[in-house]
Amino acid sequence: MRQPMVAGNWKMNGSSDSVKELMAGIKAGMDSVKNTEVVVCPPAVYIPRVVGAAADSGINVGSQNICDQDRGAFTGEISGEMLNDVGCGYAIIGHSERRSLYGETDELVAKRFAAARRNGIKPIFCIGETLEEREQGITNDVCSRQIDAVIALEGVDALADGVIAYEPVWAIGTGKTASPEQAQEVHAFIREKIRGLNADVADGLRILYGGSMNAANAAELIGQPDIDGGLIGGASLKAEDFLTICRAGG
Ligand code: PGA
Repeated sequence: MRQPMVAGNWKMNGSSDSVKELMAGIKAGMDSVKNTEVVVCPPAVYIPRVVGAAADSGINVGSQNICDQDRGAFTGEISGEMLNDVGCGYAIIGHSERRSLYGETDELVAKRFAAARRNGIKPIFCIGETLEEREQGITNDVCSRQIDAVIALEGVDALADGVIAYEPVWAIGTGKTASPEQAQEVHAFIREKIRGLNADVADGLRILYGGSMNAANAAELIGQPDIDGGLIGGASLKAEDFLTICRAGG
């Protein structure tokens, strides 16, 4: 059985006060989350204080990106060594906003995946098609290409060290969720593709759905056979909504 995971991607939101309040709210409800691995990914400047606030709560902390290099002259980047140093165990990699707004290529994303692995940080590896690509009928090809970049650099076994988050770009922050059937279809495709390379990796790999998942639709999405949790943007900023989604994972 794959343990469900629900990860909150806070994006570039929050302040010292709001982060404190949000963490207090999530912590207060963690008793009601039975079996789901819970991760929150704050903006980098808040990671140390969120790690502090998360102590002994069962909440794990992730970054929203990770440098492909471990140290040196890489202005503006944050390395896996540093994330380790402050107790951050997960990193979102290849988010569509990084790919589309900051020009991250499949190859760079794969290198960031590798950097996470060599530093013992679990990658939350994001993939997904744009609306145009879906309309062209190339959703599976796009997801395949994005995954292949990691497999080419690190091998298929590397996928076992992290999770994949399937996030259709047209569903992110739009309130337009993929239907459970649409999402399940892509998740099943991803798992089958990986099964062709390594059945054990495919069976154990958690594939999260992301894109306007919320308190009202989470249970039905996570109830699909190949959907093992969610990567949550907007709804992760409200403790009650986030906890409802975590509980939907069990
Ligand atoms: P959303 O964002 O839940 O606000 O659609 C998801 C994400 O970008 O990870």
